[in-house]
Amino acid sequence: MKLWLKLAFSFALLAVCLEIFILTPSPKERLSSNLPQTNLDNTNGKVLTDAGKLSYSGYSKYPSLNWDPSPLTSSFSDKLRYKMWDVYILYTNNLTLLIALADIGYIKNSFIISYEKKSSPKSYEKLIPPWESTLMSSTSLSGTTSYNSSSYSLLFSNLNPHTKSIKISSSDYNIDLIYSKNDNQESIFFFGPFNEDMSQFFYAHKSYNYNVKGNVKIGNNEYILDNELGLMDWGRGVWPYQGKWMWASGNGIFDGKKIALNMEELPKDFKSSKASEDCFFVDDKMIKLGVVNLNQKKGSDKVWEFKTVNVGPNEMFASIKGIFVAEESMVKKTNLWIIKSQIVQYFGEFEGEVETVDGIIRFKVRGLVEYHESRW
Ligand SMILES: *[C@@H]1O[C@H](CO)[C@@H](O)[C@H](O)[C@H]1NC(C)=O
Ligand SMILES: *[C@@H]1O[C@H](CO)[C@@H](O)[C@H](O)[C@H]1NC(C)=O
Repeated sequence: MKLWLKLAFSFALLAVCLEIFILTPSPKERLSSNLPQTNLDNTNGKVLTDAGKLSYSGYSKYPSLNWDPSPLTSSFSDKLRYKMWDVYILYTNNLTLLIALADIGYIKNSFIISYEKKSSPKSYEKLIPPWESTLMSSTSLSGTTSYNSSSYSLLFSNLNPHTKSIKISSSDYNIDLIYSKNDNQESIFFFGPFNEDMSQFFYAHKSYNYNVKGNVKIGNNEYILDNELGLMDWGRGVWPYQGKWMWASGNGIFDGKKIALNMEELPKDFKSSKASEDCFFVDDKMIKLGVVNLNQKKGSDKVWEFKTVNVGPNEMFASIKGIFVAEESMVKKTNLWIIKSQIVQYFGEFEGEVETVDGIIRFKVRGLVEYHESRW
């Protein structure tokens, strides 16, 4: 055999081995039993230890633990594994809008996704090279998130711990919104380890039932919003190379109440994980749910069924069951072999009921289901 042929053959073999033995994810077990759903509202201290590991696993309704990422940025490899994003979403009857700035270590990007009822979803993405500067908010309640270029500018600012200003200007989108909530409104802070020593983890703050007002201009369509509902999805984490999640998020008025739901399946270390991110909101209150499983209905690509693994409620967490029906979807794929990402978003409506020890709450709200899989 010619030398170049041998080399080519060896290289191809190496690539196939890498793909099969290293890059292909090992199938992860799905949670089919509950977690303790440990509440950390009365625990004080820091989210991270000095060694950059999660101090506790669980969830809280208030910011009881302080976020300081400085232990994470000491080495180059830590910096590559550290992922951050600030995302704002709003759901009105006619419009779903998602805007974000993310920094995943070696690249940053900003994206806007809009779904106007009765038309196909649209998106805009701006990849930001490492040498251009961005700001990421220091905590979910303070600091500024921002990026400016000649054709695009984004500025998320905290006017106070309960009020945010969200501004974007680009050729296709002009967005100027105020997100505000009440002083004592509950949200979910989630502390979820991916491995047993908790050096890989996801720390998130998801805050729903924000009152949203302002203007959104998409091409020639202008929406003047007043008294709409939206959410913040603020995430920081040290992720494994194979990242994966399935997220269901909805928000709207039903029966005169502000209702929101947040359900997420993430990779988890079963030993160290003390809570899931699943929860439900009624006005200013957060109701913790048991572990939720979400499955596409057999034989249908538009319907999902979800339910908690617990059939009924207890004092610590509630149960939920219902369906999601998609109207439209959008797929975004990037494949650079070693770095790869696939995101599928479905836009539609959730309907179902939550049972707490105090009774049953029915709901029907707009929202989205997102699948994300990546090598990053
Ligand atoms: C939203 O849609 C409804 C009908 O589905 C329509 O009557 C209404 O004018 C729309 N609102 C906006 C702001 O486009
Ligand atoms: C972008 O411009 C705004 C307004 O001029 C400014 O407040 C912000 O700090 C700038 N952002 C960056 C990353 O330089």
